[in-house]
Order: sequence, then C-alpha cells, then structure tokens
Amino acid sequence: MSEQQFTPQEINPLATLDHWEDAVLERYPDADAIATAKDKEEYRNYDDPVRNSVREFYRLNHTFQTYEFVKQKQKEYLSFDKKEMPVWDAFQFLNQLVDDSDPDTDLDQFQHLLQTSEAIRRDGHPDWMVLTGLMHDMGKVLCLFGEPQWAVVGDTFPVGCAYSDKIVYPEFFKNNPDYNDPRYNTKYGVYEPNCGLRKVDMSWGHDEYIYHMMKDYLPEPGLYMLRYHSFYAWHREGEYDHLLDDHDREMLKWVKLFNPYDLYSKNPEPPDWNKLKGYYTELIEKYLPKTLKF
Ligand SMILES: [Fe+2]
Ligand SMILES: [Fe+2]
Repeated sequence: MSEQQFTPQEINPLATLDHWEDAVLERYPDADAIATAKDKEEYRNYDDPVRNSVREFYRLNHTFQTYEFVKQKQKEYLSFDKKEMPVWDAFQFLNQLVDDSDPDTDLDQFQHLLQTSEAIRRDGHPDWMVLTGLMHDMGKVLCLFGEPQWAVVGDTFPVGCAYSDKIVYPEFFKNNPDYNDPRYNTKYGVYEPNCGLRKVDMSWGHDEYIYHMMKDYLPEPGLYMLRYHSFYAWHREGEYDHLLDDHDREMLKWVKLFNPYDLYSKNPEPPDWNKLKGYYTELIEKYLPKTLKF
C-alpha cells in the first residue's frame, strides 16, 4: 500500500502538543477521577477553539490509526536506524519541539520530563522509576521525524479488535476502515482471549516508541509505565479486561502509580537544573548506554 498523504491541517491540528495533555488533565482532574458521561458531554460542547482543535485531533486519530497503519509504523520506526546520539543531545533534540502559539508560558518538553522525574524522586520511589519519569515522553521526537500529531500523542488503544466506548470521542471510530472490517471489528479481533497486552498492537505513538527504545535498560514495571502511560481506557477506565493476562493485572498498579506524576506534576517554576545535573548524570550512566538509537 502506498503511504497516505496528509494536509498540513491534518498533520498538526493542535497549536501545541500540550493542548492534548491539557485536555486529558481536564478529563481526569484528580488522581481518582473517572470521566463520567456528563463530564464528557460538557467537555465536548464547550465552544472554544482549543477544544475544537482537540476534537479535530481525535477525529483524525480515530480515523487513521488502523491496524495496517500501526504495522507500517512499527516497521518504519522499530528498526531504530534513523539517528544515534548521546542521551543529553537527545533531550536537546526533543526540545526542538517548540510551541509556536505560546512560547513564553509553556515549559519545554525537558522541563516536563524533569518535573515528572523530580516528583517521583521526592516521593522516594526507586531510581529506575525516576529515570522512567525522565524518559517517558522522549518518543515525542516522532513529530520531528515528520509524523502527524495524532500518530505521536493522544490516548492509545488496541487496534485489530473492537474499540471500547470508554475511549474519548468513540463516535469517531466509525470513520476508521477497521470499524467495518470483520477481521478487526469483533470483541477479540485478531487476538486470543486473555492473550496478554504484550501480544496486542496498540495505536501508534510516543508510548510504544519509547518502550522499544528502553526495553533492554529498565525493569519490567518501568517498561509498562512507558508503554501504557496514555492507555487511559485501561488504567483509568478499567476496559479491555478480556485481553489481559495475570501479568498485566500485576503490572497495572505500576502504571497507575506512574500516571499522577505525569499528569499532576506540572508547575510553572522550572526546576533548578544546576543543582540536579550531577544526580541525573549518574542516573543515566547507571542504566543507559552512551548513545540512544532512534
Ligand atoms: Fe506521554
Ligand atoms: Fe508526559
């Protein structure tokens, strides 16, 4: 199949990736929140250009993230033959993702990573979890390789089987060709009952990409945190039990432990990097190779 071409509006429906994260925060305003039908309705009907762009973002995401699209992106990116750089250069590379609309008020990507990892460290969690926090959004470099925003961020979900109606904006899945494809539109689709998430293909994005980048370097709970941190239909809504195995159920507590650090650690004060540099240099040396492959 030839690769689909997208218009600039289809590639970047959001003025900034942060608008997706702001929308998630609005959906899950506190650690225990589960979005109710009413919340979702309010969130949808509010007439605001940012919300409309988030809605358009999900329309594109739900329309174009097909099983075949995911397979194609796995092939394209999981060979890690695009770039190789030292870890610190990788953070600088990631920071080229700047926000056109509002360059002064939003913190850069690295600050979000550092605030996440510092919040984890403050609570006394193991050092590999601190490192997980520091690395969790590195996969957003996919934008810098020309991927559309909806193939980098957004709630992730299994492809190749029926969609949960607890995924935000479920009505947009009707536009996805898989929705009418009998291979992919049944409860189990291409999967066996309780086959385990490791056998399930997730919609393509920064989570899956960073998981593969880190999979030889972090312990299993850290890898689950990376791979499923945007799988809100699972870790917040409790969906897809029919695909889980006991290992997933065991790991879910770690994914849940991580999520609040990602969502609720944002602070307008950037951490004092000069004071932190020594700690993070050692941490990276302890777990990661000298260079990362992209
Ligand atoms: Fe993320
Ligand atoms: Fe994040």
